[in-house]
Amino acid sequence: MNDIAADIFLCSLADLDATGAKEISLDDAGVRLPAFVVRWNGRVVGYVNSCPHARLPLNWKADSFFDLGNTYLLCINHGAFFDVLTGACVRGPCKGQSLRRVAVRVDGDSVLTA
Ligand code: FES
Repeated sequence: MNDIAADIFLCSLADLDATGAKEISLDDAGVRLPAFVVRWNGRVVGYVNSCPHARLPLNWKADSFFDLGNTYLLCINHGAFFDVLTGACVRGPCKGQSLRRVAVRVDGDSVLTA
């Protein structure tokens, strides 16, 4: 995870308008790493798209990562709920574990790796 280069363009802020999230693909030392960026309460954060429960992608539908109330990130596979800003599982089979964070930063209208 430390081999992800900084300042790589991930998406524009406008890409987050429809669902609040955008799936992206990172290059981790030559290995493709599925990930996603979310915007929530004015903050932008990124995570590897792999649930700590069974290492499956969290979503079935493109760019869809929030629960119905837009309060938590949801793993649709077995219903794990994650704190949006910390990635910690607060309910579900992986409670106490966390999503793997991707360091991101916003520069103007762009979201970049940090
Ligand atoms: S794979 Fe996410 S809750 Fe089971």
